[in-house]
Amino acid sequence: MIIVTGGAGFIGSNFILDWLAQSAEPVLNLDRLTYAGNLENLAAVERDPRYRFERIDICERDAVLALIRQARPRAIVHFAAESHVDRSIMGPGEFVRTNIEGSFALLEATRAYWGECTPAEREAFRFLHVSTDEVYGSLGPNDAAFSETTAYQPNSPYSASKAASDHLVRAYHHTYGLPTLTTNCSNNYGPFQFPEKLIPLMIANALAGKPLPVYGDGLNVRDWLYVGDHCTAIRRVLQAGRCGETYNIGGDNEMPNIEVVRTVCALLDEMRPDPQGPRERLVTYVRDRPGHDRRYAIDARKIAGELGWRPAETFTTGLRQTVRWYLDHQGWVDRVQSGQYKDWIAANYSAR
Ligand code: NAD
Ligand code: DAU
Repeated sequence: MIIVTGGAGFIGSNFILDWLAQSAEPVLNLDRLTYAGNLENLAAVERDPRYRFERIDICERDAVLALIRQARPRAIVHFAAESHVDRSIMGPGEFVRTNIEGSFALLEATRAYWGECTPAEREAFRFLHVSTDEVYGSLGPNDAAFSETTAYQPNSPYSASKAASDHLVRAYHHTYGLPTLTTNCSNNYGPFQFPEKLIPLMIANALAGKPLPVYGDGLNVRDWLYVGDHCTAIRRVLQAGRCGETYNIGGDNEMPNIEVVRTVCALLDEMRPDPQGPRERLVTYVRDRPGHDRRYAIDARKIAGELGWRPAETFTTGLRQTVRWYLDHQGWVDRVQSGQYKDWIAANYSAR
């Protein structure tokens, strides 16, 4: 069996659903259920005997170790994190706690368990750390894309905390021989993404006839990857990646934010026309994100060459599926938008 941390979040829940659809192997999901964790994402598997959930904070090393000892996994896939850059700017403490201290506690628990395994189990075991391209910092318009050897230059409290966790994972491999793998992925989009991130926020606001807040000049560039392709890449790295290595994952799909927003508007206009007119009228430029990274781009030749992974979706096919999903799951959106969500929207957008 495998353990997944943060499996009630956006990518983790997509990963668990994909995993159980592709393999017979059981999954134990360890998640604290912060504002971003939602068990509704996993409703389709909640009665599946191969799936089990434990609510736990990864910072609680002893309790995590007890669960790992009981489950005896052959791999741990570590998604749990605070993941939103704007929240890290308003309150970096939670990011240091979960992303650094939590990853440290998880690594310590994993090292203790791994040390107790038989030689064959130790050999087969993997700790896969899911990280981000943001650790590499920001690119100029003509700079080469981030490769696995690009120097780390994190610019936000979020990316700094992820960089710190990447370094800890590296150190646990080099110092203790823990069989680790690290993936650094670009911007994901797809079903179950919390509507604080660009694409689901724009879909939700556009459907509600609310302003579409574009930071700065709207020309910051991100490389977008459909979440299902990220999950396939993680499965492939887990299966065949070399221990101690890092793998960049990207969609080879760089796009300025304003173009992403316009594409979302055009898809919504086509699938659910607005009697008031094209949604692009709702675009509103607002004050920029402090320290806003200008451009991310991923050189994914290593994972393509070594492991034969390539994305299956283009931005056109992936975004169409995503918009369709949000149109078909308005109830999900309404439920996550109740409660704490409103406080975040007021805190982040009222002063922009
Ligand atoms: P998310 O915010 O949607 O989900 C995070 C999950 O972690 C939630 O279920 C939350 O409850 C859980 N969690 C938070 N703190 C915890 C703690 N202390 N103990 C246990 N569980 C805790 O995040 P996401 O977008 O799904 O990202 C998942 C991972 O992938 C993160 O590590 C993130 O850095 C990385 N990543 C994300 C993207 C992206 O575009 N979203 C891209 C590359 C890498
Ligand atoms: O690159 C990978 C990273 O992508 C992940 O590690 C992070 O967890 C994930 O949140 C994402 O970070 P970004 O900051 O790039 O994503 P976000 O969706 O917050 O913003 C995407 C771009 O859109 C960014 O340039 C900021 C801009 N933006 C965002 C919001 C929420 C806006 O213009 N308006 C907005 O309201």
